[in-house]
Amino acid sequence: MLNQLEEIEQAALVALDEVEDEQAMEQWRVANLGRSSPLMAVFDQMRDLPKDERPAIGRRSNEVKQKLEKKHSEKADLINQLALQKSLETERLDVTMPGRPVSLGRLHPITTTMRQIYRIFAEMGFQIYQSRDVETDEYNFQLLNFPPHHPAREMQDSFYIAGHYEEDNPVLLRTHTSPGQIHKMREHSAINPKDPPEIRIILPGMCYRHEQISARAESQFTQVEGLAVGKQITFSDLKGTLSDFNKRMFGQNVRSRFRASHFPFTEPSAEVDIECFVCGGEGCPVCKRTGWLEILGCGMVHPIVLQNGGYDPNIYTGFAFGMGPERITMLRHRVEDIRYFWANDVRFLEQF
Ligand code: DAH
Repeated sequence: MLNQLEEIEQAALVALDEVEDEQAMEQWRVANLGRSSPLMAVFDQMRDLPKDERPAIGRRSNEVKQKLEKKHSEKADLINQLALQKSLETERLDVTMPGRPVSLGRLHPITTTMRQIYRIFAEMGFQIYQSRDVETDEYNFQLLNFPPHHPAREMQDSFYIAGHYEEDNPVLLRTHTSPGQIHKMREHSAINPKDPPEIRIILPGMCYRHEQISARAESQFTQVEGLAVGKQITFSDLKGTLSDFNKRMFGQNVRSRFRASHFPFTEPSAEVDIECFVCGGEGCPVCKRTGWLEILGCGMVHPIVLQNGGYDPNIYTGFAFGMGPERITMLRHRVEDIRYFWANDVRFLEQF
């Protein structure tokens, strides 16, 4: 039996040498120290031994058991240590590495331009109104004094709303923000039809045209409309207001130029240019060598339009203007293609 204990011990130690991981370690423990291990069998057989052999076998069995237990715990420690080392190595953090940049959201360049426009007109005492995107032909054209076959109606090819087609008053997406003029004049004049209150408003919003899309034309774009109606408003007020706007928007030294033009809803009408802020008026590719940049359209509100809004043109006068934030943004940032604005390409948007 002493020999048998010797063999048990040897076999267990040899097997222990081969153990390399936690799982094998546990298997070894069950096989060599577990209840059905050869060593435990020796303990079981003890009581069948002659009395005089028992002490020697008993002592030896305990020695083997203690030795195997000790070896087991040493090996287990070693395996734990190796595992720890390995995981430290594979999960190593380089604390000197630069952090990953957090990308911040930002305002769309058109939003930024719109807000600048709002702020400037708000400082001048204008209120900001919203008007509807879906209009009727009546508001978009007729009440603004477009005659039925006016060429501008073709120029502003419209998106019509299917299923709402009335022969002479189809529903469409507004092609400009000007119909808001009629809505707001009617709302204001309804307050006191005999003596309607004065108006100083801007009307920003999206406009839609069924255009051939190109670097210069999108089917969807923003406009900011302006309208001032009162009892003593003159063309000088128009010039003063818009020259001042240009200074606040483009720089105190910028010069403005008013060129006669034509719109059905204003009389007289003008287009406003500013001296090119890229070349200072010398002539460059941005201003197409003219030294001037066209910024907006404007004019004195046509008597028929005042009338349509509920304002007596014998008592009231007014001025109106309309500008394109995309165009202004393109000039300021030298953006060469209007399609970038609504294409949602972050590579473009991230630059602002
Ligand atoms: N509605 C015009 C357009 O879309 C812009 C415009 C020009 C608006 C002159 C005005 C104005 O109020 O007076 O082209």
